Amino acid sequence: MLLRKLGESDVMVTPMAFGAWAIGGWMWGGSEEKEAIEAIKAAYIAGITTIDTAPVYGFGRSEELVGKAMEGIARDSYQILTKFGMNWETEEGEYFFDSTDNDGNPFKMYKWASKKKIIQECEASLRRLKTDYIDLYQIHWPDGSTPISETFEAVQQLIEQGKVRAAGVCNYNVQLVDEALKTIQIVSNQVPYSMINRDIEIDVVPQAIEKGLGIIAYSPLQRGLLTGKIKPGHKFNEGDSREGNRFYTDENIQRTNDLLEKIAPIADKYDATLSQLVINWTIHRPGVACVLVGARNEEQVNDNAQCLSMSLTEEDLNAITAAAYEFSLAEESVVK
Ligand SMILES: NC(=O)c1ccc[n+]([C@@H]2O[C@H](COP(=O)([O-])OP(=O)(O)OC[C@H]3O[C@@H](n4cnc5c(N)ncnc54)[C@H](OP(=O)(O)O)[C@@H]3O)[C@@H](O)[C@H]2O)c1
Repeated sequence: MLLRKLGESDVMVTPMAFGAWAIGGWMWGGSEEKEAIEAIKAAYIAGITTIDTAPVYGFGRSEELVGKAMEGIARDSYQILTKFGMNWETEEGEYFFDSTDNDGNPFKMYKWASKKKIIQECEASLRRLKTDYIDLYQIHWPDGSTPISETFEAVQQLIEQGKVRAAGVCNYNVQLVDEALKTIQIVSNQVPYSMINRDIEIDVVPQAIEKGLGIIAYSPLQRGLLTGKIKPGHKFNEGDSREGNRFYTDENIQRTNDLLEKIAPIADKYDATLSQLVINWTIHRPGVACVLVGARNEEQVNDNAQCLSMSLTEEDLNAITAAAYEFSLAEESVVK
């Protein structure tokens, strides 16, 4: 598979990566270990050698599963993108939100990217991932309680020690990216992006193109909605945070399915599923270096991976873009 370079670094990633959030179980109503390991292995076999994970995905579980799945596989044949800066263990940092763990116990989540925390987190991630380096180390969410310079001095130190190959950010706006660039040459910004969630096109994408950063697009299927399988009235498992999400109101599910109906003839023309069409379109959007696609099992991976062998014409890509531009969320669900 043709790999793409992340910014000025020598880290090469596959255009579609395995997103390992759902397999952690937390916020996704649980997950199956055997299925998760098979899914990661199936992705690797299909040529998807880039994996995105984070300590907070199942509180270490996602990284552990990645470590188990990749054990024995040549380390330089796959790329690990992981993150730091979420704190569920102590009440330090910037308060983020209240949550419950997989057993239903309440806790408070903080964003905390202090130097001390990052150095500790990196060691824990390396241990869980059974590796001695991380290809891309990303701050998970902006932490208003720590100076950005402190955060990235710590990451720079890890790069100099050979524990990290390149630095990235997630969920950063353009001001924060500019601030980070004063301390370190970040190579990517990981942000939400899908056919029905295109806010980053306003300023985040133009900035990435101008500064030579790769956009790492997350939730390209809008967490499953853009597969077309979710219908109004859908009931999720206990603890699945899609329930109550603004994209998952009955009205917005219907609007999304109307959009999918419009582009379904294009999918049919290529004998493709809607997921394959949606992912392929996202991979081809300006500034996008890598699209993170989550999957719970081998079947979903194999479905999604086939999008890589499909070559959409410019005309069809434009027709999908035009349909996406006609989409809007119901007024009451738009965050102002
Ligand atoms: N940096 C951040 O703050 C951040 C935030 C969110 C995500 N991410 C990263 O981005 C990755 C991808 O985003 P995401 O997991 O939120 O959403 P996504 O990729 O849009 O959706 C993934 C989910 O859709 C369903 N699905 C996937 N392929 C399918 C198929 N072929 N047929 C039917 N259902 C299918 C699965 O869930 P079900 O089977 O349960 O429906 C799967 O877990 C994450 O895993 C994570 O690595 C990062």
